Amino acid sequence: MIGAKSRRILITGGNAGLGLALAKKLARRHSLLLSGRKSQIDVADVLPQGAGYVVADQNDPVLSTQALVTGIRDYGWDGLDNAVLNAGIGIAPPHGIDSTEAIRQTLDVNLLALILQAQALFPLLSKSKGTLTLIGSVVHSGSATIPAYAASKAGLHGLARSLRAEWKGQVSVQVLHPGSAKTEIHEKAGYDPGVMRSLFLDPDDVAAMMASAIAARRSPVRLSWVRYLNGGAFTGRRL
Ligand SMILES: NC(=O)c1ccc[n+]([C@@H]2O[C@H](COP(=O)([O-])OP(=O)(O)OC[C@H]3O[C@@H](n4cnc5c(N)ncnc54)[C@H](OP(=O)(O)O)[C@@H]3O)[C@@H](O)[C@H]2O)c1
Repeated sequence: MIGAKSRRILITGGNAGLGLALAKKLARRHSLLLSGRKSQIDVADVLPQGAGYVVADQNDPVLSTQALVTGIRDYGWDGLDNAVLNAGIGIAPPHGIDSTEAIRQTLDVNLLALILQAQALFPLLSKSKGTLTLIGSVVHSGSATIPAYAASKAGLHGLARSLRAEWKGQVSVQVLHPGSAKTEIHEKAGYDPGVMRSLFLDPDDVAAMMASAIAARRSPVRLSWVRYLNGGAFTGRRL
C-alpha cells in the first residue's frame, strides 16, 4: 500500500537491469511508473507489484517522448516527484569504429530521447519541485572501445550541468555515473567482459547507491566500487 509520503516516480528502462533493481527497491514505499521497449505482456512477470508500465521505444525519440507523457497522464498523474531517465544501450563496434547506423541509434536512444524527455517532463516536475535524474556512465570521460556510447554519456553530463543551472529553484537536476554492473547490457552490446565481469557491481548495490544519490540531489555522482566501499549505498539518505 502506498503511504502518505509516497512519491510519484518515473523510471525509464525500468523492466530490466539497474532500472528494475531500483524499481524493486522503491516499490513498497512509492508509486512507480516504468517504461521500456518491450510489450506489457513480455514484462508483466518481472515488474514489481503495483507498478505501472508504458511502452516507449526510444529508437524513435519523438514518439517515445509523446508515449511517456501520454502514459503519465493516463496513469492519473498530473505531476511528477522524480523522473529517472535510465534507459540506454551500448553497441560495441567490431573494429573500434561504429557504423553510422550504430552511432545514430546510440545517440537517439541514449541522448536525443533524454533531451526531449527532459523538456517534456519539466512542467510535470516543476509542479512538485521534483528531481530529474539522468543515468550516465563513468565512461562519459572517454573509452577507447565504445566511442559513441561514451559520447552519448558525455552529452548527458553536459545536459545535466545546463539544466541544473537553467532550472535552478524549480527542478533539481543531477547526473549519476555508474561503473560496470552485472546486467545484460554488455551482452546486448556484443561485448564479452570475460573474467572482468566478476569484478562488476551487483545491480542491487548500484540501485542502493542510486536511491541514496537521488535523495541527496547532488550532481555529478560516480557510482563506482570506490564509492561502494566508502559506504555510498548507506549514506543515511533514503528515497
Ligand atoms: N550495467 C552497467 O555496467 C552500466 C554502467 C554504466 C552505466 N550504465 C547505464 O545504466 C543504464 C541501465 O543499464 P543496464 O545495465 O540496466 O542495461 P540493461 O540491463 O540492458 O537494461 C536496459 C534498459 O533500457 C531499456 N531500453 C533499451 N533500449 C531501449 C529503447 N530503444 N527504448 C526504450 N527502452 C530501452 C531496456 O528496455 P527493453 O528491455 O524493453 O529493451 C531496459 O529496461 C543505461 O543507461 C546504461 O548506459 C550501465
